[in-house]
Amino acid sequence: MTSILGIETSCDETGVAVVADGRRVLANEVASQIDIHKEFGGVVPEIASRQHTRVISQLTRKALGIAGIEIPDAVAVTRGPGLMGSLLVGLCFAKAIAYAWNKPLIGVHHIEGHIFAAMLCDSPPEFPFLALVVSGGHTQLVDCPAPHQYAILGATRDDAVGECFDKVARLLGLPYPGGPSIQKAAEGGDPQAFRFPRAMLDAPHLDFSYSGLKTAVLYTLRDDPGAKDRLPDLAASFQEAAVDALLAKTRQAMRETGARRLVLAGGVAANRRLRERLLADIDGDVFLPPFAYCLDNGAMIAAAADSRLRHGLTDPLTITPDAALPL
Ligand SMILES: Nc1ncnc2c1ncn2[C@@H]1O[C@H](COP(=O)(O)OP(=O)(O)OP(=O)(O)O)[C@@H](O)[C@H]1O
Ligand SMILES: [Mg+2]
Repeated sequence: MTSILGIETSCDETGVAVVADGRRVLANEVASQIDIHKEFGGVVPEIASRQHTRVISQLTRKALGIAGIEIPDAVAVTRGPGLMGSLLVGLCFAKAIAYAWNKPLIGVHHIEGHIFAAMLCDSPPEFPFLALVVSGGHTQLVDCPAPHQYAILGATRDDAVGECFDKVARLLGLPYPGGPSIQKAAEGGDPQAFRFPRAMLDAPHLDFSYSGLKTAVLYTLRDDPGAKDRLPDLAASFQEAAVDALLAKTRQAMRETGARRLVLAGGVAANRRLRERLLADIDGDVFLPPFAYCLDNGAMIAAAADSRLRHGLTDPLTITPDAALPL
């Protein structure tokens, strides 16, 4: 058995996990900072990095204890992209323990981690596949021909879809983070009640745009005095428009590339409507990450690192964090 310690501190979650053989999660501890940042309406970078510093040692000790592992075979950590201060805390900590234990260090791209969350199951996808990455900072269609090879086929030109959920939730007076709030508010609502735009559907490229959808909700609230009393309808109609655009471009990408497998990745992968629509409407095998590993966590970082280790892709202790690390 190969055990890998995975550390994720790119934003406002401290995640530490132990994963065996790239798919069996022995421990997955996440310390969320949502309650700390809530009063500011968003993540405050300086507070985030200080909070990572406060909890990372205890969380690591706890994860190793739960896993029953004294010293893992390798130490994996998110190298970027993300908040520089937050990344620094995780990377410095990972380097220190990799050095002390004399174990390999593996730096992982945060989005590669999200994609590998789908591997944390008994029948993981085989390469090649297409990945639909939907999170707070990314909306991308990524061609994955072989392990650790990526080609971005399309991406958002403005807001990410998760960011759009968060902004629209604020417009609707729903709590942060917006994704789960909107999903809950949409229960029992009519997804066809309001006609919101699906951007770029007829365009030949595979890019997305979500700023127009957010503005459409804003204008509806401003111009339709009865709208705000129909919260379930508003939330359901917004969610449907957001999901429709993802579905359309994903189907287009599958057609154009001939891909037969689709892997969903990122925080918005937790969205139930998106998951059911993909299973129903995608022609090919659809791989959904387990709910527990959709949002930022250390297990997905360890899963990606396990594959990197098997391909001989380890890193020197001199690696540095990169807030804008390209995939
Ligand atoms: N059930 C849900 N439905 C829709 N969106 C959701 C749901 N659950 C979470 N989200 C959204 O997922 C996003 C968080 O995902 P994630 O933690 O991967 O983002 P991030 O790490 O901040 O960004 P990135 O991964 O791009 O760096 C938030 O925008 C949140 O609203
Ligand atoms: Mg993320």
